[in-house]
Amino acid sequence: MTTVSLNQPIKTAPGPTPLPIIGNALEFRQGVLEAMQRGHQMYGDVFQLKIGKRHVFVVSHPALAQEVLIDRAAEFPKAQAILRLILGDGLVTNTDHTSWLTQRRMMQPMFHRQRLNAMGDKMVKAGESLLERWQEKDQTMFDLDFEMMQVTLDIITQTMFSSDLRAEASKLGHTLGDALHFLQQRIQSPIQLPLEWKIPTHEKYRANKAALDNLIMSVINERRSTQPKDDLLDMLLEARDADTGEGMTDQQLLDEVITIFGAGHETTAHTLTFAWYALAKHPQILEKLHQELDTVLAGRAPTIDDLAKLEYTKQIFEETMRHYPTAPSTTPRLALENTTLGGYAVPKGALISVNIYNIQHHSEFWDNPNEFRPERFQNRQEKHRLEFMPFGAGARKCIGNNLALMEGQLLLAQIAQKYNIILEQPTMQLEQSITLRAKGGLRVRLEKR
Ligand code: HEM
Repeated sequence: MTTVSLNQPIKTAPGPTPLPIIGNALEFRQGVLEAMQRGHQMYGDVFQLKIGKRHVFVVSHPALAQEVLIDRAAEFPKAQAILRLILGDGLVTNTDHTSWLTQRRMMQPMFHRQRLNAMGDKMVKAGESLLERWQEKDQTMFDLDFEMMQVTLDIITQTMFSSDLRAEASKLGHTLGDALHFLQQRIQSPIQLPLEWKIPTHEKYRANKAALDNLIMSVINERRSTQPKDDLLDMLLEARDADTGEGMTDQQLLDEVITIFGAGHETTAHTLTFAWYALAKHPQILEKLHQELDTVLAGRAPTIDDLAKLEYTKQIFEETMRHYPTAPSTTPRLALENTTLGGYAVPKGALISVNIYNIQHHSEFWDNPNEFRPERFQNRQEKHRLEFMPFGAGARKCIGNNLALMEGQLLLAQIAQKYNIILEQPTMQLEQSITLRAKGGLRVRLEKR
């Protein structure tokens, strides 16, 4: 445990020496992921960086993650995250505890297991229409990440909003990707120019945000003029304030819908892309997966009722989330007061970033952490409950974790049953643009099984 002992003097957290004005911005030259890994290796489970005027403490140990996100969560609430520039005050980025709790309580029932099980058919159908589209692909090369984004977008819009946005999917994927890239650049930059300044990068961000907002508002407005569908969108439209009896404003609706839409498909899509890459690189794992699919399904399409029996399929998805966590760190938490963490002084106003990637590669908890081995999830004996935390922890844990697990397992089974995915590039480069993704996508072609 790396908690504070009263006998220990309070130390200054280690970290690279900051330069005047730019602080540690140069650390990010090779990428954020690389900077975080290097920091962990060189300085340990807590290190600090200076970005602009801000102290950022990077935490890479599950016991400390538990302190920040659970045991001492009241001392470290969510800070204003840059993601707010896309997601507004929706569930992920809301920093006001009272309104967050109201929203979370309202939306939670939609994500209960029973309710999700009832959406199983819609998930399977989305997978089937992907397979139908693929029939025309034959031997052509394509970007698998883009295809995974399409199918997860299809699932989130069909299950939560009963809408079909497939026609807009291509544009949408790029719009969201570009907007996230802009945010990542902005976080790393020591000087953040006011967004009102009319420079090309700002204009492009604004255009992307407007395109996303317009599309989401069109989904909301269309529903207002049609019959209820008993989905998340209806829940949001029908919600009334307990005191005033008023419904949500357009802005609140937009923020919540764009949040579920944004948080609910990109992370799952990239996880699936990583899983296909890992499977293509490990033929023996693919072989074992095929054996399970052939035994359990014997050629028929999977349904939600098969999930409990598709154990190895689930282990592959879990190992992918460990090895390639698509949310590689939590959104930042804010130190409300001068305090200590892991024996180190943390000044009031500092940001704390819990690094999920480093925790899930920590050699104290994972043997050969860089090896892709789904079997480690079979009867796993955990040393710490947060050594595996792809969905975060505590009250702000991912609301969509069960949905992601269900669709991940189903899509892996549906696709692997029919196709082998052949890599058309020798390796894959990781890129952290808020979420973790395959840089430039993943070029593949299909081979029928
Ligand atoms: C593999 C897929 C996914 C991963 C890796 C993932 C990861 C995460 C993580 C790490 C957090 C916590 C962030 C923090 O503490 O700052 C989070 C929160 C959240 N996620 Fe996910 N997520 C996934 C899928 C989904 C899906 C499918 C949905 C929606 C349908 C979703 C919606 C949300 C929301 C709304 C929150 C904020 C919860 C709150 O603060 O109350 N996520 N997710």
